[in-house]
Amino acid sequence: MNVVIHASEEAVTQCAYGFVRDRMNRRHYRVLGLPTGSTPLRLYRALVEGYRRGEVDFAEVQTFNLDEYLGLPPDHPQSYRHFMQTNLFSHVNIRPSHVHFLSGLPHDIEDECEAYERAIKERGGLKLQILGIGRDGHIGFNEPTSSLASRTREKTLTRQTIEDNRRFFEKDEEVPRWALTMGVGTIMEAREILLLATGRAKADAVAAMIEGPVTAMCTASALQMHPRVTVMIDDAAAAKLNHDDYYRWMSENDCQMAGYLEACKQRQAARGQTAKAP
Ligand code: F6R
Repeated sequence: MNVVIHASEEAVTQCAYGFVRDRMNRRHYRVLGLPTGSTPLRLYRALVEGYRRGEVDFAEVQTFNLDEYLGLPPDHPQSYRHFMQTNLFSHVNIRPSHVHFLSGLPHDIEDECEAYERAIKERGGLKLQILGIGRDGHIGFNEPTSSLASRTREKTLTRQTIEDNRRFFEKDEEVPRWALTMGVGTIMEAREILLLATGRAKADAVAAMIEGPVTAMCTASALQMHPRVTVMIDDAAAAKLNHDDYYRWMSENDCQMAGYLEACKQRQAARGQTAKAP
């Protein structure tokens, strides 16, 4: 896991934007897995601004969202489909046929989930999966005790997640209790993963994910087993890490590695020239 700590949410956003822009500009990286929630909002805003500046292009990008509430139609203001449309898709040049979503009103749940897995495979698999993390360590809606090998399926949300969502709904009976979500196993098949977390409320989950045991009680901890994961967090979300000095040291040195290698090559070349001189 590559853990990158920034002083502020804004700095996390800028770094994440640069990371995603770089991947989107590679031809073979254009199948993205996307989250909803408050965490990626700034990144989506940065991507819209980047699109307007001509730095990113969505024409060839395919997206698969992680999850959707069961029972909400696509145009419901709290559906994840509506969230994505409002915050990203309606502002960029993505083709509607390239946007993939789990239905909140499927005819048959099992068929819907299998078709989603198939659609991901048919497009060559997720190249970059972007994630947020829940306070209980969930990714997608893979709540504690979800199998770390799970595939796309229905899930009952925990009381805490339902409570966290209550503020978005007018009436208690409207708050969804179930969702369809990509499984942990589905997420783990992505070529590369970028997880974002900001704010003090995420500090326990972030510490459990990075430094705790791999356990279904914190499904994000499964990411320890993935070979290409970058976790970008702010100081507040890093507050409960025991080894934050080490992660900061690693980041600084990673940044300097290319410059150091270049300097080594130049020294080597200069030595070669001196050796050849009569
Ligand atoms: C939503 C999703 C969830 C959120 C998580 C954090 O698509 O996958 O796992 O990423 O619940 O939500 P926020 O960012 O609102 O704190």
